[in-house]
Amino acid sequence: MAGEEGFVVTPYEVRGRIDYDRLRELFGTQELSPAILDRLRQMAGGDLSPLLTRGVYYTHRDLPALLDLYEKGTPFFLYSGRGPSGPLHTSHLVQFEMCRWIQSKFHVPMYIQITDDEKVWARGRLTREQTAQWGIENLVDLLALGFDRRNTHVFFDTKSIRAMYPLAVDVAKRISYSTVKAVFGFEPSTNIGLVFYTALQTVPCFYPSWKTGRSVPCLIPCGIDQDPHFRVSRDIAEGLGYPKPALLHSKMLPGLLGERTMSTTGESKDNALYLNDSPAEIDRKIRNAFTGGRATVEEQRRLGANPEICSIWALWKTGFAKDDKEFEEVTRDCRSGALLCGECKERIQSRVHSFFSVHEKAKETVRSWAEELIIQEAAAQV
Ligand code: TRP
Repeated sequence: MAGEEGFVVTPYEVRGRIDYDRLRELFGTQELSPAILDRLRQMAGGDLSPLLTRGVYYTHRDLPALLDLYEKGTPFFLYSGRGPSGPLHTSHLVQFEMCRWIQSKFHVPMYIQITDDEKVWARGRLTREQTAQWGIENLVDLLALGFDRRNTHVFFDTKSIRAMYPLAVDVAKRISYSTVKAVFGFEPSTNIGLVFYTALQTVPCFYPSWKTGRSVPCLIPCGIDQDPHFRVSRDIAEGLGYPKPALLHSKMLPGLLGERTMSTTGESKDNALYLNDSPAEIDRKIRNAFTGGRATVEEQRRLGANPEICSIWALWKTGFAKDDKEFEEVTRDCRSGALLCGECKERIQSRVHSFFSVHEKAKETVRSWAEELIIQEAAAQV
């Protein structure tokens, strides 16, 4: 969207220095206000995820209406997804950590979509076998975050298509070619798989309502780059008799090499900490990571550093700080010049290592049951 703004944000391209206030205006999303955050904290029993308190999630669509319904006894379900184009990196986990937190506080069902088809259509060099393999591996990583096994369901596109297809037919009928062309910026050379694909990303939004014949509200925590898909879903929802999905949008996270986001296609492997990196690779990447530090130690002691542009600070912020107190200390000491980049990097290295080893253990147990959560049954005839 909007090349003339100096940045582009679509599901298939994220480029330039994103002005998030401007993006909110362009997309027409609502600010996640202190009043909404207070309400969420109250409803969650007094606790609020650091991803909300620290502004990683920053806008929404229709969240208050969804919370109203919840309070009146109509629970929602969570939906988010992953395009399995390779190993996950730590920023990919942020969106699912948000979901995990909401599930743990609101005790609602979670639907995860693994789009092994999308990544064949969107990435020329990947085969179906590769995306399917990454899909399983990514799914195990996501479930290892601690989703409630009895309340989590997976659409793995090529495996779940039998259940999804009748609803996909109804959805696709209502989406015109000119809509997808305008929303996603497709070219004449775009393959028709991708033209159809948005219908499949909409299916989980309506699936529980379609299956049960009741109106089941949907909440989608996702990166703001995915919003265009769900604008399409929202536009057709009422015509199909389903509630419009509500959304919670995060900012794109900076990569280790600086301003660019971690999830932009074709990035160097050094731009992110992948969950299959060795400890030595993690240390090397962190050592070489871009920070907001000054040219010399003397200058940094005197003037302090700039956390806002620092890729390491983004890691503290998105979960590696053990609590708000530690996060505030790191931020304060960075700004004042008391904490130098070398020391800060060493501290986070050991934090990342312990996260990775706990995560590996969790994966071992998840691996034995992950595939049982994949929806494979034929859908009810409706
Ligand atoms: N299109 C997303 C990607 O490329 C995957 C996805 C499917 C998704 N359904 C979703 C992301 C719902 C967020 C919310 O990674």
